[in-house]
Amino acid sequence: MTMEEKAENAIREQVLKRIRPSLEEERKLKMVVDELLEKAEIAARKMCIGINRATLVGSAARGTWISGTHDLDIFISFPEETSREELEKSGLLIARELAKEAEAFEERYAEHPYLNMRYMGFDVDIVPCFAVCSASEIKSAVDRTPFHNIFVKEHINDLQEEVLLLKQFMKGTGVYGSELRTRGFSGYLTELLIIHYGSFRDVVYSACEWKPGMVIDLLGHGCVDHKEPLVVVDPTDPRRNVAAALSVDRFARFIEACRLYVDTPSLAFFFPEPLKPLSDREVLAILGERRSSFLAIVFGTPDIVEDVLYPQLDKMEMNIRALLGQHGFTVLNSGSWAGEESVVLVEMLSSTLPLVKRHQGPPVWIKSHAEIFRSRYEKADETFSLYIENGNYIADIKRKFPAAKELLEERLMTCSLGKQLTEAVKKGYQVLENEELCSIKYESFRVFLRKWKKA
Ligand code: UTP
Ligand code: MN
Repeated sequence: MTMEEKAENAIREQVLKRIRPSLEEERKLKMVVDELLEKAEIAARKMCIGINRATLVGSAARGTWISGTHDLDIFISFPEETSREELEKSGLLIARELAKEAEAFEERYAEHPYLNMRYMGFDVDIVPCFAVCSASEIKSAVDRTPFHNIFVKEHINDLQEEVLLLKQFMKGTGVYGSELRTRGFSGYLTELLIIHYGSFRDVVYSACEWKPGMVIDLLGHGCVDHKEPLVVVDPTDPRRNVAAALSVDRFARFIEACRLYVDTPSLAFFFPEPLKPLSDREVLAILGERRSSFLAIVFGTPDIVEDVLYPQLDKMEMNIRALLGQHGFTVLNSGSWAGEESVVLVEMLSSTLPLVKRHQGPPVWIKSHAEIFRSRYEKADETFSLYIENGNYIADIKRKFPAAKELLEERLMTCSLGKQLTEAVKKGYQVLENEELCSIKYESFRVFLRKWKKA
């Protein structure tokens, strides 16, 4: 064994020691799961609801869960011919029955309703699905999951620990999680990568060479073209890309992390030091060093699920950039953050522009247009000067919004912001400029500001 391999193995063991579930933990999980599955079946029988079965799916069912993450995915499958209304209604009835003994619960809406509860310390999702006969004939998006379960269980052999290592590496480097907030790698995707490459080490070494357009097709049955940077054809559905939610930036960040790790492996990739919030002094130093202009739009975060909130924030950020651009401001960079309040932050070359703006008119020899232009601008209050340049009229006129702050204060609502964010912004928002950023004290916001600072 080479020195490098020895070092890597030592890291591996230290990571596994921290994330491998203990026997005690496994026993408790099994007990809670058995109890829930039995209760679900009893509840269905009691209410005369015909279900096929209640099953545990997800990482807890596959031995690929990380110690301390107590997340259980319980699926209640209904006969395929059940109507959607019936499935939603009966699914919730059964779920509510289980929730009677929960510490807390909440009905949530994904593509269809499901129930999330805290039960004996576990974070449990109870999801109704259709028992379709193949994953390519699903009636709702969650119907594939039981097929994933079967495939992984059949092919994972004894590679569970490799999955744990890869998941933890992805968590540590900020690319794990397929929710719209992260747009990273899902649990199922990590499992397929391990099944394909055979080990954590082989995934990491191979990913150093990945490029957009990378296709992994375990069964060689893919039958459609995908445009996403990474394509992992779902072994249970030839038309589906398991990595469809992975953004190009998370894809790139993973490649970068793998290269850095191969170069100098360390425990810090798996368990990074938490990032420290920036102090007021550090925030002011950023402003002073960069000499650009910052504007922050601050408003109350609406009470909606993250998968709705984050796409709307992304959209708001894009539309604010566009609005600023239309009024002559050059945006350098931007970002958004959500906690108790939400912030869209924009960095510009400058947040103020001269009051004068060039307004291009028609060539003088296009008689009718030229005359209209001339009479419109000749005497107007907003005109500073009117002249001819290369045969065209040019009017130097007053800019409506020489300050980006005023533009946002007056025109933010003209951006299309998404339903819930429109309502939230309507309730009131503030526009902060440069040093005023320091009045936002939330620690996680101050961590987010690190985007503007080198590590
Ligand atoms: P989870 O998000 O709980 O993932 O989804 P997981 O595999 O259990 O991983 P961790 O350890 O909790 O993070 C549960 C199941 O739902 C399906 C997968 O089959 C997954 O195993 N699923 C979830 C998807 O197919 N796509 C997704 O984006 C999310
Ligand atoms: Mn899970």
